[in-house]
Amino acid sequence: MAGSKAIDDMIALARMAMERAYAPYSGFPVGAVLRGANGKLYAGCNVENAAHPEGWCAETSAIAAMVADGERTIVEATVMGKSEALVTPCGGCRQRLREFAAENLPIHICGPAGVRQTMTLGELLPLSFGPHNLAGPGKKR
Ligand code: THU
Repeated sequence: MAGSKAIDDMIALARMAMERAYAPYSGFPVGAVLRGANGKLYAGCNVENAAHPEGWCAETSAIAAMVADGERTIVEATVMGKSEALVTPCGGCRQRLREFAAENLPIHICGPAGVRQTMTLGELLPLSFGPHNLAGPGKKR
């Protein structure tokens, strides 16, 4: 069954980004799409490197595209991979998403055919440390 157009657009874009991923070392292409508070969609893919730790994730690429466009709030996220196991964001990307999203951020975990499971950022990163944790009297000016 087809979903709403809004989510279908995210899925189509995630699929395109996944197909463009540069993942020659892992053979594990991932696409990510973020919806900004401005309504725009931002896509990213994983970009690996011969020096393996220097590669980065699809979510990280999408965040960079969003911030470079002037948007700083994520309201919906989609991550797509091809594996049998769910392609949930890695720990580092959960924290990077947290910088620009509330704990109730919906994250759609997708396979090439569409959404497999939707969860919130708070479920993936409970009791998270976010920008608000730096506020208060202890903050250095
Ligand atoms: N990867 C992502 O891009 N996003 C995820 O959510 C999980 C993992 C990438 C990193 C690496 O290029 C490949 O998938 C295998 O770990």
